[in-house]
Amino acid sequence: MSFENIVVVGLGYIGLPTAAVFASRKKRVLGVDINADAVNLINQGEVHIVEPDLDMLVHAAVSEGYLRASTEPEPADAFLIAVPTPFKTGVAGHEPDLAYIQAACDSIAPVLQKGNLVVLESTSPVGATEQMAGWLAKARPDLSFPQNSGEDSDIRIAHCPERVLPGHILRELVHNDRVIGGMTPRCSEAAVLLYQAFVEGECILTNARTAEMCKLTENSFRDTNIAFANELSIICDKQNIDVWELIRLANRHPRVNILQPGPGVGGHCIAVDPWFIVSGNPDEARLIRAAREVNDKKPDWVCSKVNELAGELINGGQTTREAVSIACLGLSFKADIDDLRESPALKIAEMIAELHPGKVIAVEPHIEALPSQLTDRGVRLTNLDEALQANIVVLLVDHKEWKSLSVSFGIHQRLLDTRGVIAQS
Ligand SMILES: NC(=O)c1ccc[n+]([C@@H]2O[C@H](COP(=O)([O-])OP(=O)(O)OC[C@H]3O[C@@H](n4cnc5c(N)ncnc54)[C@H](O)[C@@H]3O)[C@@H](O)[C@H]2O)c1
Repeated sequence: MSFENIVVVGLGYIGLPTAAVFASRKKRVLGVDINADAVNLINQGEVHIVEPDLDMLVHAAVSEGYLRASTEPEPADAFLIAVPTPFKTGVAGHEPDLAYIQAACDSIAPVLQKGNLVVLESTSPVGATEQMAGWLAKARPDLSFPQNSGEDSDIRIAHCPERVLPGHILRELVHNDRVIGGMTPRCSEAAVLLYQAFVEGECILTNARTAEMCKLTENSFRDTNIAFANELSIICDKQNIDVWELIRLANRHPRVNILQPGPGVGGHCIAVDPWFIVSGNPDEARLIRAAREVNDKKPDWVCSKVNELAGELINGGQTTREAVSIACLGLSFKADIDDLRESPALKIAEMIAELHPGKVIAVEPHIEALPSQLTDRGVRLTNLDEALQANIVVLLVDHKEWKSLSVSFGIHQRLLDTRGVIAQS
């Protein structure tokens, strides 16, 4: 068995780097996406997403003829599916939405051939790989699948979750260990053979359900630990204790390692994946659900603190309701990136601007213009110097530029530092 021709379905933050890395190992790769603009751009050797060095890799792979893009799949040896897996909006319970995986199955089913490997890379709830195999089997009754034919199946199926960190994707794709969950042991072996084309970390074999749960567990572990720190920060504020000092002290215990609090949890992984466990296990996943709720509520707490501080200054005569100014430092969902999607900082800025229209300015060194939900509410993008003159300075993202900031605030000012980075002199 060898995998010389590979189709990658979904050319986003995961699929495009994966396709480019396979191509850089001299595999013939066809990237498939429903976004025709992205497909055209890639075929010109350009990229539509921001990730260090990806542009060079894609450019080289396309000009050498190893990477092509299309809106339609073609026959190949292996198929990787890296489409979105959000939860359903407008439905109670944060149910996972597998419609993108189903659509990807519909598109590859007609070109599947005996001997093919299909790998689901999208982060998925437990049972999604079996569900995918079911959709493919229904579309291709002439082929046999592992759920019916076990080790003798025509098509091999595996789940190999992706755990790369945005901003470091190309390095982590190659060096991270890889959990490989085949629907049968031979499916796992086939997937290892595929990934060995570029993975230098260890390929660790398991079954598909454990691989699915492994990815969800990793992100739930992070979410739960962050929720603990976030809850502590709220308790400490009430008790008039410096949470940063408290955590530093507690972490001197040899078996304690508390994470740092923040304004909430954002991004499309940690804030989403734990819900897949909760939705499948509503009675059992009590801690995981509570952690999600604690983290989702943190932006509301930050807003109420801003209101409290504004009230303090107005009632104390240091400013007036008409003149009060509020500066939000940072809008991205985590430090040192330009990605505002699912960002708690953006949500907080929006909520503050809703309550204090025309009074809010924002600093975000990684973007050139504010998104419309802020400009519509009268928020203005500014520089750090102006922001530090505001009555209330709300630090929301620990960008590296601000980590050694030492500021002297006047009596008409208050700092709300949700990441504990600004020193007050
Ligand atoms: N971004 C990350 O850091 C990260 C990390 C680990 C895992 N994941 C998981 O990887 C999966 C993909 O995430 P992403 O960040 O690459 O998403 P993305 O939104 O950046 O890209 C997904 C791409 O799939 C395309 N697409 C949607 N439906 C399609 C279809 N039927 N056929 C072909 N293309 C289709 C979209 O047009 C888009 O270009 C998700 O399950 C996500 O949870 C993401």
